Amino acid sequence: MAPPGIKGRFVLFALLVIALFLFVRLEGYRAPSGQLSPIQQAKAGTSNKVSSGPSLTGHAIAPKLGNATVKAELGRAAWKVLHTTFARFPEKPTPDEKEALRSYVHLFQRLYPCGECAEHFGKVLAKYPPQVSSRTAAAMWGCMVHNIVNKRLHKPEFNCEDIGDAYDCGCGDEDTKDTGRSEGVDV
Ligand SMILES: Cc1cc2nc3c(=O)[nH]c(=O)nc-3n(C[C@H](O)[C@H](O)[C@H](O)COP(=O)(O)OP(=O)(O)OC[C@H]3O[C@@H](n4cnc5c(N)ncnc54)[C@H](O)[C@@H]3O)c2cc1C
Ligand SMILES: *[C@@H]1O[C@H](CO)[C@@H](O)[C@H](O)[C@H]1NC(C)=O
Repeated sequence: MAPPGIKGRFVLFALLVIALFLFVRLEGYRAPSGQLSPIQQAKAGTSNKVSSGPSLTGHAIAPKLGNATVKAELGRAAWKVLHTTFARFPEKPTPDEKEALRSYVHLFQRLYPCGECAEHFGKVLAKYPPQVSSRTAAAMWGCMVHNIVNKRLHKPEFNCEDIGDAYDCGCGDEDTKDTGRSEGVDV
């Protein structure tokens, strides 16, 4: 039997070690790799970036579509939205705008209403992540991944040099910051 003094000191020491361990763990949680805590992120409005946002590369969400007619119609509409989005993306995007496009493309894939298409397209994105540095980069990337899908479906390859003309909607390049704001208030 150890004298009570020694035993008491041992218990105190053990408690200290546990407290230190918990402190380090909490610190790690508060600042994962030098970033803001989830609470601080939520307050700053950037919570979708790290832990609390949806997974950008998770499983395809929609069920199998099957019907080939619907699948093709949906595909034509979807490609139109994607290519037009890239054609109207800023040539010099801000970091926030780049992040928005990157997330959009990934979630577009995850939520694409044709589950089996989304499954395949997820593999394409894993190999060729969206290029978001500029309008040109995004448009070229969009053309390239569409060509990968074309190839798999035995469709003709599209010449990506024509991408600029193909998706120039003729709708001009107005200052979207202004129009966006005024239209936003009316809704
Ligand atoms: C993300 C995604 C995944 C898909 N996965 C599948 C799938 O797994 N199985 C399936 O059956 N269908 C899939 N589809 C649908 C498929 O890609 C076609 O949209 C559909 O088969 C209709 O083909 P389409 O011949 O009318 O031309 P689409 O491929 O729909 O193209 C529409 C038009 O875009 C132009 N275009 C063609 N290639 C390019 C390019 N590289 N860049 C820019 N413009 C181009 C042409 O003018 C073409 O007529 C997918 C669609 C999307 C958006
Ligand atoms: C596929 O969907 C179209 C449009 O809704 C429908 O007309 C057609 O009958 C469907 N085909 C099959 C095989 O279910």
